[in-house]
Amino acid sequence: MRPRLAVGLMSGTSADGVTAALVSVGRNRLRVVRHRTYPYSAALKARVLGAPGLSVAELSRLNVELGEAFAAAALKIAGRSRPAVIGSHGQTVWHGPNAVPPNTLQIAEPAVIAERTGVTVVADFRPRDMAAGGQGAPLVPAFDLFLYGRGPMKAVVNIGGISNASIIGHGRILAAFDTGPGNALMDEAVRRATKGRRDFDDRGRLAAAGTVDERLLSRLLKTPYLLKSPPKSLDRSTFGPAILDTVYPRLTAKALPDALATLAELTARSLWLGVLQSAPGPLSAVVISGGGALNAHLMRRLRALFAPAPVGVTAMPVMAKEAACFAWLAARALDGKPGNAPSATGARGPRILGKIIPA
Ligand SMILES: Nc1ncnc2c1ncn2[C@@H]1O[C@H](COP(=O)(O)OP(=O)(O)O)[C@@H](O)[C@H]1O
Ligand SMILES: [Mg+2]
Repeated sequence: MRPRLAVGLMSGTSADGVTAALVSVGRNRLRVVRHRTYPYSAALKARVLGAPGLSVAELSRLNVELGEAFAAAALKIAGRSRPAVIGSHGQTVWHGPNAVPPNTLQIAEPAVIAERTGVTVVADFRPRDMAAGGQGAPLVPAFDLFLYGRGPMKAVVNIGGISNASIIGHGRILAAFDTGPGNALMDEAVRRATKGRRDFDDRGRLAAAGTVDERLLSRLLKTPYLLKSPPKSLDRSTFGPAILDTVYPRLTAKALPDALATLAELTARSLWLGVLQSAPGPLSAVVISGGGALNAHLMRRLRALFAPAPVGVTAMPVMAKEAACFAWLAARALDGKPGNAPSATGARGPRILGKIIPA
């Protein structure tokens, strides 16, 4: 099989913007040609983060507007190349894996992406897994197995708005689940304390200057989700921004470093504990991707916790990994190959994921 060019489009719970990656997909290899995050405007970001409160009419309009934003990102990253397929994760506006019936909603109208680009689009990857009894998440483990399946046991971790981990060893997925918070809680704390002037704690410098509130930390570490064993995936409410209303009701700029130190520690410890509880032996490495890999304070804390296992970053650019995953999943869908890992999502079996919009 000759390598094919594919575009992956991803926007996670951070709602920082559309990350687009142009990748070359081969049978055993994937290479990121280029990638970029196209930030949402402040107004669009606010609507995305507030999507659960929108009317149906507003949500329907947002779906098409995001479709345009995703299409623009795809066109820019493709440049003069002619990708065979675009895989679009879309923007999650709701994820309720534990509701009855389980449900999830990703928007960014794929018909708009196909129409603007003239390229076949595969989108909406999660519902099929859910319809088959799965949590619809995490979907990255099959990709992690593709990338890291050879060799001794590793934890492959993405720190986006929330964090997830795949434990991969000897050609198998040993466990995969959302570990708990990622950047979204810290981002929200920054936005509140700076009245929207800042979006995140650059390189974790504020957190590094703060002191951890150990009592609050140990209370948060008792959140039932963290004690459950996998398969499990986080819904919006568990570590959603709303919990800041309870733990830091009036966050000031002065109190921000201590709050960030505490939230960063919650992120690091929940991740470490979750991985440790699920790894059936010592890890040869921990491989981090996602925007959290750019938070130097968080990375230092993870290195200290996981020692002596080395903590590093993915060979591909850390921000490109999830977008690359959806390019890969789209190529699999076109090939008629399953994309979910039933052991990770809890689905009854392997399923071909996504809905195909022909070019
Ligand atoms: N230089 C940086 N320092 C610290 N954190 C960063 C930096 N750059 C990005 N981030 C964090 O990464 C987040 C975006 O990560 P991403 O992997 O795109 O998450 P998601 O998948 O939820 O969109 C930002 O919201 C921010 O918290
Ligand atoms: Mg993002």
